[in-house]
Amino acid sequence: MTIGVLVSGTGTNLQALLDAGLPVRAVASNRRDAPALERVPHLPTAAFELDDYGSRAERDAAMAAWLEAQGVELVVLAGYMHILTPAFLERFPERVLNVHPSLLPDFPGAHAVADQLAAGVAQSGVTVHIVDDGVDTGPIVLQERVPVLDGDTVETLHARIKDVEHRLLPAAVEELLCAR
Ligand code: GRF
Repeated sequence: MTIGVLVSGTGTNLQALLDAGLPVRAVASNRRDAPALERVPHLPTAAFELDDYGSRAERDAAMAAWLEAQGVELVVLAGYMHILTPAFLERFPERVLNVHPSLLPDFPGAHAVADQLAAGVAQSGVTVHIVDDGVDTGPIVLQERVPVLDGDTVETLHARIKDVEHRLLPAAVEELLCAR
């Protein structure tokens, strides 16, 4: 099954998928300047900036069409920071996977690590789930705890969470590839 990855940031999770030898064939971003795109000079890449489209749905339809044209069958969100509209999800039903830095359904949203520290939780974690039209909702594929340590900052906790993400995300993708 051919994988397309969506990124917005540094792309360490994209790197983990590549290092695991998974069949990543195309990478797209909502930001032309996303550092993650520099990790894949050997692959087709494209940027779909909201400003270039009349609406979010139009942008998502264009992005989905581009991924389909690359032969993509499974989409992995690896630090992709925009919500996907039905215009995208309808093209890849049950075939979009996301990695999130908390034990969902607790602490959804873009500031999950800071929110968990502010709430004083003892256990943070990583969730890999199938994307539906909610914010960080959808069936969970894999989940793992990450303890919060005394003195943790957003940076130190997020770094330990990412170490787990880099193992859990490729494992979840492999699980899905085997199941299909
Ligand atoms: C990860 O922590 C992911 O869970 C969150 O955004 C971060 C992306 O990091 N959604 P990277 O771009 O893969 O380094």
